[in-house]
Parts: sequence; C-alpha cells; structure tokens
Amino acid sequence: MSATLIGSAILGLLLAGYVAQKYGLPPPPPKISGIDLGTTFSSIGVYHAVTGDTEIIPDDTGRRSVPSVVAFLGNGSELIGISAVEQQEHNPTRTIYDAKRFIGRTFDKDSAEFQRDLKRYPFQIELNEQQKAYFVVPLDNGTDRIITPEEVGSIIIAYLRRAAEKSLNTPIDQAVISVPAEFDQIQRNATQDAASLAGLEIRRIISEPTAAALAYGLHKKKGVENVIVVDLGGGTLDVSVLWLQGGMFVTRAMAGNNRLGGQDFNDRVLQHLLKTIKQKHGTVVSDKEDVQQLRLAVEAAKIQLTSFPHSTLDLKLRSVGHFKYHLTRNEFENLNGDLFASVLEPVKAALEDAELSKDDVDEIILVGGSTRIPKVRQVVGTYFGKAPNYGVDPELAVVTGAAVQAGVIGGGWPLQVSAMELPVSLRKRHIYHETTDMDDNEL
Ligand SMILES: *[C@@H]1O[C@H](CO)[C@@H](O)[C@H](O)[C@H]1NC(C)=O
Ligand SMILES: *[C@@H]1O[C@H](CO)[C@@H](O)[C@H](O)[C@H]1NC(C)=O
Ligand SMILES: *[C@@H]1O[C@H](CO)[C@@H](O)[C@H](O)[C@H]1NC(C)=O
Repeated sequence: MSATLIGSAILGLLLAGYVAQKYGLPPPPPKISGIDLGTTFSSIGVYHAVTGDTEIIPDDTGRRSVPSVVAFLGNGSELIGISAVEQQEHNPTRTIYDAKRFIGRTFDKDSAEFQRDLKRYPFQIELNEQQKAYFVVPLDNGTDRIITPEEVGSIIIAYLRRAAEKSLNTPIDQAVISVPAEFDQIQRNATQDAASLAGLEIRRIISEPTAAALAYGLHKKKGVENVIVVDLGGGTLDVSVLWLQGGMFVTRAMAGNNRLGGQDFNDRVLQHLLKTIKQKHGTVVSDKEDVQQLRLAVEAAKIQLTSFPHSTLDLKLRSVGHFKYHLTRNEFENLNGDLFASVLEPVKAALEDAELSKDDVDEIILVGGSTRIPKVRQVVGTYFGKAPNYGVDPELAVVTGAAVQAGVIGGGWPLQVSAMELPVSLRKRHIYHETTDMDDNEL
C-alpha cells in the first residue's frame, strides 16, 4: 500500500511538474460543462484538462441520472429530480414530466396527437396564441403557476449546475448541451433559452448521437467513416447514421420507433404474470397496489436478468397472497422476441436512407438503458456481424460526449483533436409497431 502511495505521489509530482512547465500554473478548473437534458433523465459532466477524464457529477442524492421531473407544492416551492418523483403519486396535477416533448414545438389543438397528450398527462396543458404548449399548476392560494417547457428545462439545468458547482467548488457559467438529432432550429433555440434562463451561456449544441460517438472517442479513431447509433430507452428507439471525416460529423439518416422501449418489455412480462396468476389462482388481479407491486418487481427482474440467467419474483399480493415466480432470461427473451427483433427495422430504414449496406458500418454504438439487455446487443451485433462498442454506461454516453465536446472547446490538454458537427436538415423516418396493443387507453 505504501508503495502505491509513493508511486502516486511521484506521479502527482511529475504531473504537477509537467503542468507547471506547460502553463506555469496549476491546471485550470473546468468552466464549460456538458449537459444532457433528456426526456426522462438529465445529467451534467465536465472534462478535466491534464488527466483527460470526463466526470459525470452526481446530485445530492448521489444520482448521476437525475429524473427530468419538476414538482410544485401547494405553497409554490419546487421539488426537482428524485424528490419530485417520490411525491408524484400524491401530487399528480402539480408534477411535470416529459417537458422536453413539448419544447419549441407548436401544436394543433384539434390534432389527434395533442388530444392524446391531454389525456395521457395528469397535469394541465394549454396552448398559447402561437400554439406553443404551457403547463398550468394550481396553487393553494387559488392562483395558478404558469410554466413553459423552457422554464421546466431551466429548473432542471439550474439544479444540475448547482450540483456541479458544489462538487467542483468552482463557478460554471458555460455549457455544451445535447439535443435529439431530429430537433429543428426552433427546438434547438428553445433548449438554448432553457439554459440561458438557468444562467448558462451555451457554447455549442450537439446532437445526441454525435455526443455518444464522442464519448467513445470515435472522433480521434483512425479509419472510422460510418457509424450507427442505436438509442433504446424506456419508450422510444432512435437510430442515426453518422458520417465521420477528420473529426467532423454529419448525420446522414435517422429513423425511429417512438412506441418501443423498456416499458413495452416490462408490459409483456406483466401480462404473462397476470395470466399465470389467473391460471393458478383463478383470480384476475385488478387491485392497483398489486399491479404496481408486480410492475416494480418486473422492472427489478429485468435489470437482474441483464447480468444473471434467472431472477425470482417473490411477492405478497393482496388479491392472492404469496406469489413466487422464477423468471429465466430465456423466457424473458421469448416473451419479447418479436419486439427485440423489431429493433432492426429502423436500423435497416436508416441504412437504406443513407445508401449504405450493413458492411459499410465501421462502428456500432448503443445508447440508452434498454441496450443493457443482452438480447438487444446480440440482435444488433449479429445483424452487423460485429460487436457493438461497450464500456461507457449507455445511460451516460450522451452526457459524457457533451463533456468531451466541452473539453475540445475549452482547449483542455491533452485533448488536441477537433470535433465538429455539420448542420443538416433531414427527415426522420418513423416506424410504428401496430401489432403491439399499447395504445393510450392504458393510462
Ligand atoms: C412549502 O411547504 C413545504 C412542505 O410543507 C416546506 O418545506 C417549505 O418550506 C414551504 N415553502 C415555502 C416557500 O413556504
Ligand atoms: C400565491 O402563492 C404563490 C407561491 O407562493 C405566490 O408567488 C403568489 O404571489 C401568491 N398569490 C397570491 C395572490 O397570494
Ligand atoms: C434562433 O436564435 C437565433 C439567435 O437568437 C436567431 O437568429 C434565429 O432566428 C433563431 N431561429 C429560429 C428558427 O427561431
């Protein structure tokens, strides 16, 4: 142990010497942060000059993925992140989530999509004269708090910023922020407005797939030209094809399915369990708490099955008493076989739009929590005949890349390569799965 202590002391001295020689000063603290303002989770990170490490900074509760949820109490005070989620059930009309889905967009009041949104969300959504959405939160004193999607974003960004400033003990007043590749200029501007409201100057906006590629260092890897990024989250699948040359990224095609994700895999297992209970006990479980308990157990089992071949659900349900179920990875994969296979549909569509064959793809990048599922990795890997990149937490890949971009802009040694994104305007191809009956009546 003392040997390692001495070793790191020597290394530290050497490093300090190098830095002193290069800068004549201790390494500057990072000023530019990288921010991933996500639909369900958000994160902040920085790039440390000298060591070349990216650091994703946890909030006060230790979370590096902060739920993108803002709640208001009756007296007007705000709750952010997990503390907002924890009271959501008891305060549904004042707990705002999914605000990113509304940012910088206009809606037609009579459209099926907007009417569906009104039904789906328990909080009140209105449209202003410009047809932009805003939220109405009733307070205890009889007044309403009016809040725009940009303001919700700014509350989350300010929360992340405070966490970073506290952890690094230095002011952070600039940021690189990531947005979905499909965001148009108005949505990008609105995201920038959210950051400005939080007191941050935006140095650059980068698309999420480009950020993920930066997280894997592809901008400095030789011989990489075509990259495919597959982002499978809780409820949506996004696929982007990037073309890369000399540290320059161009998005060549996008396709997606905004009705496919982790929740759908859970639903299949839940339906199977309800059927099993019915067969075994002759009971149709309708008790809300029982269903909620089953939902949580299914989510936990799914996570366990990413590293173990089986998982046991052991529950006490109000409707049938003790319920134990042994779920194997194999069964989980069979229940979701068609859904996992359908991940390839937007992959093929995006390749077709980019006029590439699968053999032209040099690197595969998986982003989003659902890409932890071994079968998803396998389906994608088998299709391309090569293993996807791994090593960066798929839920933190985007924020890591935003932090790398911040480091490039900040000119932090030893990051001497460039990384740029050329703007393009492309249409995204949407692929829906009408075979799965997961429409809006369930909420
Ligand atoms: C609002 O109520 C909460 C919980 O009752 C309390 O912790 C908070 O300090 C109050 N905020 C204000 C502004 O009075
Ligand atoms: C109602 O409460 C909110 C939040 O505390 C406050 O900002 C607002 O001024 C109050 N309005 C009235 C009319 O009391
Ligand atoms: C976005 O913001 C810039 C700078 O504020 C402005 O010049 C541009 O017109 C805006 N674009 C759109 C589409 O709103």
